[in-house]
Amino acid sequence: MNASELIDIVPFIQERAPAMGRSKVQELYDACSTVFSGKEGFPTLKQIRWLREILDDMEPADVGIDGSRSPVDEPKIASRGGLILGQALTQMTYVHIHECDDFSMGVFCFPAGAKLPLHDHPGMVVLSKVLYGSVSVRSYDWFITPSSRPRKGGLVKVEADDVVLQAQSKASVLFPRSGGNIHSFTALTPCAILDVLAPPYSDELGRPCTYFSETPIPSLSGFSILEEIDLPEDLVVAGAPYLGPELILDPDFDGLY
Ligand SMILES: [Fe+2]
Repeated sequence: MNASELIDIVPFIQERAPAMGRSKVQELYDACSTVFSGKEGFPTLKQIRWLREILDDMEPADVGIDGSRSPVDEPKIASRGGLILGQALTQMTYVHIHECDDFSMGVFCFPAGAKLPLHDHPGMVVLSKVLYGSVSVRSYDWFITPSSRPRKGGLVKVEADDVVLQAQSKASVLFPRSGGNIHSFTALTPCAILDVLAPPYSDELGRPCTYFSETPIPSLSGFSILEEIDLPEDLVVAGAPYLGPELILDPDFDGLY
């Protein structure tokens, strides 16, 4: 076996090796570093399966969140026992875990009824895992490459039509041109979604987050026209600190340890 063949199988040796006492979020970070850092092109299906298996094993406490239902008579508090009390949050909240040039990790926490409107992920691979609660997802892929003049828009095909995802659901994945790259979330109950974005959004590098309005086409079931809109004024996302296990970041991480 030559060196390049050996490097190819390192992630899969790691997959089967003992976790060596690493936290699950550390395991996720290390795997993302292996798969995404400094790599050209898209991950292989084996790598995607590896990341999904790690995500499927994650629970709210692994990222510093208590996802259990609060007693009705308990005063609304933001945290308890060193964890963010997810079900006490009254507005959409993003818990930033990590971001580097190659990927980002974070958690969107939703109160019941909150909606993250239609938005895209240009050139990105996105893995999402519901940690608690349930959420309805609508997603689309461009059917015709979108025009960008005067604003981005075009014809899309429905990929997920109000599909309900819950903590028991497997992690989902979308790709730059498939899998539902444009999506919206509506929280059916208080819920949280752990997201991995690779690469992260970047206005400077041509990966802005664009929001869209939707006009269904009555005569063409499963298709809609999307048009770029300004950031919705009623979209407010609060920030909350990450309270989970400390991440050990290795700028020289090469997948071997
Ligand atoms: Fe998204």
